[in-house]
Amino acid sequence: MATDSKSMVANWTPDSWRAFEALQQPVWPDETALKAATDQLAQEPPLVFAGEARSLTSELASVANGRAFVLQAGDCAESFDGFGANAIRDKLKVILQMAAVLTYSAGVPIVKIGRIAGQFAKPRSSDLEKRGDTELPSFRGHIVNDIAFDPDSRVPAADRLLRAYQQSASTLNLIRALTKGGYADLQQVHVWNQQFVASSPEGRRYETIANEIDRALRFMEACGISPSSDPRMSEVDLYTSHEALILPYEEALTRRDSLTDGWYDCSAHMLWIGERTRQLDHAHVEFFRGIGNPIGCKIGPSTEPDNVLELCERLNPDRISGRLTLISRMGAERVREALPPLLSAVKDAGHPVIWMCDPMHGNTFSSSVGYKTRHFEDILTEVAGFFAAHEQVGTWPGGIHLELTGDDVTECLGGSDDLLEENLDQRYETMCDPRLNVRQSLDLAFRISELLRG
Ligand code: PEP
Ligand code: CO
Repeated sequence: MATDSKSMVANWTPDSWRAFEALQQPVWPDETALKAATDQLAQEPPLVFAGEARSLTSELASVANGRAFVLQAGDCAESFDGFGANAIRDKLKVILQMAAVLTYSAGVPIVKIGRIAGQFAKPRSSDLEKRGDTELPSFRGHIVNDIAFDPDSRVPAADRLLRAYQQSASTLNLIRALTKGGYADLQQVHVWNQQFVASSPEGRRYETIANEIDRALRFMEACGISPSSDPRMSEVDLYTSHEALILPYEEALTRRDSLTDGWYDCSAHMLWIGERTRQLDHAHVEFFRGIGNPIGCKIGPSTEPDNVLELCERLNPDRISGRLTLISRMGAERVREALPPLLSAVKDAGHPVIWMCDPMHGNTFSSSVGYKTRHFEDILTEVAGFFAAHEQVGTWPGGIHLELTGDDVTECLGGSDDLLEENLDQRYETMCDPRLNVRQSLDLAFRISELLRG
């Protein structure tokens, strides 16, 4: 836990990032409107409290020590369109179902973190998008502009910062109600999993684990431990997270904690830096070094061991356990060779990091008709390579980071229902990267369970 002295970061203020180069920022056409929006945001209540962020840090410290595992999952990009309760509930439902399976197989607590209630901004490989002869600013997520390919929609509009804040607040409100109000009842979650197993082509394969969980729950009930007797059976903590890309938004929601005097970015419990914005001498690293939240940093396949060590030093100089998660996203083909040298370097330097596997962002390709997609087998192969790398080096595989939805979309290929390229156009709805649908997400949880038990 951060102490008073540790929360005072030298030469840092919530706006000190402004003296550094900030990549992936929109060109806001109206500075006055941007200032008005961020001034208003700065008056709004925090979305999360510093004490909650510290609780997550201490849960993540258990992960760093090999005594817990993280499931971080949710949308690639949340949308302003079609925003409603059902989509949030269904996303929570699939996360709870996956967590139940993983808890049993890993035999340790699963720390649950959503890519939710603030995951709106997207880094893009190009500032401009060209279709035919027309070139427009790229879509950067609903917190910045709209996805429709016309000039008005693509203009960055600062009032979107406020709408993102309000949608995050409503989302978080519903999450808090569902996770504490009975929806997360473990016995009910298990019934949902049994229904999935009964309907899955891989049913037999998954039945063993589902039956073992069933017996474990009946044993607990026989011992007098049930949702009515023990709130731990019916309530969960789901923490929120997003890529803190749009720095004026994050700065406006950064508040001083009255208990410790430290600064916390109260837009979410955990924030991460993307692969494209983690340069040591740039604005995002500067901003992140001063906030007290638990933070993540994506690590791609070209990262050198020295670079990882410099990031650890800069982002977690006091070596606080639970503070820093490195999210490796190497690609199925590269992970077995690219990851072990990084694991060894960090281990030898004694940095207490959590290693998480993002098997999504290194495995994206275009289908024959141009859909951005990912194959279930590649995702599984990267997770298996991640576990193998940790086994080789003697480090703890701390968790997985996934893009998924609670809807029945057709965006990723494969899974036990064997989604094919010709199925992609049935329900391809993502605003950015392809997400696992409910059944593919549950398939993955059962398959990861097999890896954990193996
Ligand atoms: C993301 O997590 O949505 C993302 C853009 O990832 P990365 O920074 O690893 O490319
Ligand atoms: Co993505």
